[in-house]
This record gives sequence, C-alpha cells and structure tokens, in this order.
Amino acid sequence: MSAQPGFYADPGLYELLHAEGTDDEVWFLDRVAKRHGNGGRTALEPACGTGRYLAGLARRGWTVHGYDLSAKMAAFACKRLAKWGKRATVARGDMVSYRPQRKYDFAFNLLSTFRHLPDDKSALAHLRGVAASLNPGGLFVLGLDLALYGLDQPEEETWSVSRGGRRYTHVMMTLPPDARKRRERILNFVTVPRPRGQKVLESAYDLRSYDADELAGLILKTPFALAACYGYDGKPAPLRGEQRALWIVLKLPDSSAGKRKARR
Ligand SMILES: C[S@@+](CC[C@H](N)C(=O)[O-])C[C@H]1O[C@@H](n2cnc3c(N)ncnc32)[C@H](O)[C@@H]1O
Repeated sequence: MSAQPGFYADPGLYELLHAEGTDDEVWFLDRVAKRHGNGGRTALEPACGTGRYLAGLARRGWTVHGYDLSAKMAAFACKRLAKWGKRATVARGDMVSYRPQRKYDFAFNLLSTFRHLPDDKSALAHLRGVAASLNPGGLFVLGLDLALYGLDQPEEETWSVSRGGRRYTHVMMTLPPDARKRRERILNFVTVPRPRGQKVLESAYDLRSYDADELAGLILKTPFALAACYGYDGKPAPLRGEQRALWIVLKLPDSSAGKRKARR
C-alpha cells in the first residue's frame, strides 16, 4: 500500500479543510441515485474518512454504512454518526478486503480515493467487493481524476479556511503520471496556525493513474456496466472527453435483467 497523506491522521484537520462544498456533493449523490439507481435508500461508503458524506445522506433519510482503514478516521466518523443509531454505522476496514454484513443499494468512493489502491489486483478486489455488497440494480459512483498521458501538466491547487480568526491553508501539487509506472506524485503542504507562528505539515505520496481506456478495461472485468459519467460541475461528461475530473456511475444489472440472463 502506498504512503498516505499526513493529515489523514488528523480527522479534525481533514474535516476543516474539506467541509466546504460537502452539502452540494451530497445533494448530487442523492440526485444520481434517484436518476440511475434501483430506488433503494441504503448507502455504503468505502474509505469514508470523517463521515461527512454519510452524515449528509443520513440527514436526507438514507441508511448508511462506512468503513475506513484509519482507526482515527473511523472513530471520528463513528462519533459523528452516533445520533442516528443503527441507521448510520461505521467500521474499520480495507478497501481490498472489507465486506459488509448486508447489502446496499448505492455505494460511492470519491476524491480519487480508489487510486490509493496500487495495482490491478487490489483495484479489482475493491470493485468486485463493492459489487458483491450491492443489491440488484445498485450503483457505485467512482469520483476520480483521469490521466491524459503525455499531455498532463504539473498542477497546483490551494484552498484556505478561516476558523476562529485563524487561517489554515492546503497547497496540493500534482506531478504528471508516467504511462509506464502509472504513478502520480502528490505533494501536500498544510499550514496550521499555532499560538506563535505556524506549522507546515508536509507529505508526499503516489496515486495510481488511469486513463479512460485503462479504467474502462478494468470495469469490463467486473459485474458493473458504465451507466453515466458527470463532471464535477454535475453536468454529463463523456468518459473520453476533455474533462478529466469525473464522477463515473457504475451499475449492476437489475434483478429482471439477471433473471433474463440466467434463463438464456
Ligand atoms: C481523500 S480521503 C476521503 C475520505 C472521504 N471519503 C471524503 O471524501 O471525505 C481518503 C480516505 O481513504 C482512507 N483509505 C486510504 N486507503 C484505504 C484503504 N486501503 N482502505 C480503506 N480506507 C482507505 C484514508 O484513511 C482516508 O480516510
């Protein structure tokens, strides 16, 4: 498993830096489920982090379950969701091997988290594991940035949050992936204010890269079919179009399609 960003060990800081925009994304997850899903209202989030999406879906009436590799993240999410009792639960688990005790109608894995899985074997284990955890007609939304080998440029993204008159800043640099190694280097610099001065938390890690064909090829080896694709602005976007930051909506056959297939 590749190294993980340092601030995954500080769920409070992660939450502070990522809270903005969460409600809009939850609204869109709900909309995608209504548009493409099987009508069920149970959701699974692998690598759920602080549980910010799960909390939003629980507020919208969903029954939710999440899991995360990090004990600190899972504990943070568990505490946050405790008020919903059995309707919102969290466990500790690995995307490669975790299997929930029941099936869900909708699953999602956003922010390129899937790309933490370092090779085809672990990525396929995750996709197939999620498929096995879904009811017929269930959806899996994968949110990730795709590569355009040879054309990608180094990128730098900065966002800041003010809390109690103190300013936190996250600078994320991305170095273009190499088509042969399939690794994208991410450098993070998180500036945290201190009573005197500030502290900069630095971390560097690799995410596995996929271009559209590599991802489509992998999906073909799973029970999922590509149902739709959206840009981060919520508008439909082709898998092989110019937009590289996508929500890819994967769907399992519904039960009648499954029966038809079985009868043939
Ligand atoms: C970018 S954060 C996303 C968290 C949450 N889904 C969100 O969007 O706010 C990535 C999360 O993936 C978790 N993670 C990384 N590798 C994992 C693995 N192999 N299995 C489960 N969780 C993992 C990290 O602990 C971290 O909480």
